[in-house]
Amino acid sequence: MTAAATAPTSGHIAFKGIRVRFPSSAGHDVLVMDDFNLEIPAGQFVAIVGPSGCGKSTLLRVLSGLVDADAGTALIDGLTAEETAERIGFMFQRDTLLPWASVQDNIAIGLELAHAPAATAKERIRELIDFLKLTGFERNMPHQLSGGMRQRVSLGRLLAYDPDIFLMDEPFGALDSQTKAVMGRELLRIWERHQRTVLFVTHDIEEAVTLSDRVIVLSPRPGTIRLDLSIDLPRPRDPRLLRKEPAYIDYVDRIWREIDAGAPVQD
Ligand SMILES: Nc1ncnc2c1ncn2[C@@H]1O[C@H](COP(=O)(O)OP(=O)(O)OP(=O)(O)O)[C@@H](O)[C@H]1O
Ligand SMILES: [Mg+2]
Repeated sequence: MTAAATAPTSGHIAFKGIRVRFPSSAGHDVLVMDDFNLEIPAGQFVAIVGPSGCGKSTLLRVLSGLVDADAGTALIDGLTAEETAERIGFMFQRDTLLPWASVQDNIAIGLELAHAPAATAKERIRELIDFLKLTGFERNMPHQLSGGMRQRVSLGRLLAYDPDIFLMDEPFGALDSQTKAVMGRELLRIWERHQRTVLFVTHDIEEAVTLSDRVIVLSPRPGTIRLDLSIDLPRPRDPRLLRKEPAYIDYVDRIWREIDAGAPVQD
């Protein structure tokens, strides 16, 4: 891990005129995105919230090249997903740990993907295990870990890989509120040091405001931007103190009102 944060020079994201349609089993197409536009400067932490089925995961998938848009472009520093695949790291709601590999081996996969030299790999894994408070569990297998520990290993793999762009799709969504708060604090600590571009999908409004520079509220399908809100709260942030700040409470309230004003949940 590098020491101090430097101004990020890469990791600019641009969605331009994105249109995505999926066939549905009912026989008609589902229009998920239609002329969707969003620009994110390098190093910004952006949370995306919105009703279930509005296209949040689809957006991340389009950017990473897992889904092809029917129209429009999604670019990173002006380049397509195929050209930038190695610079994107994805973290899913359910961990994607290899069940047959230990904690240290699961983290090491990130380093292998990043083509780290073997000599530095061992030291780096040790650092990450220490940083994520997994010391003593290096040789445990995923089934021998709690849900929070598994997500910490997933985060460790992402950090080992060290991409320019972190795509995080409800990464802490399956965790209890206490563990989620701890993970959020860890992520803040990391981001405040490294300032990668982060696209963070969540259903938790307070988590979105606590972590982000900016919160995007999407409408029901086809997902369009209902609200694009800058979160001007000072950093470094202490989530516990933040909860009492009037500005924080106002942001949370404003986002809730916007979501409530939208249409009901979709499937
Ligand atoms: N591969 C696919 N094939 C067909 N339909 C899909 C596919 N992926 C997503 N969809 C549909 O696209 C819509 C948007 O899905 P998406 O997963 O992006 O929603 P979401 O906003 O992430 O929802 P949630 O908050 O529940 O995770 C849904 O109606 C879903 O059924
Ligand atoms: Mg989703």
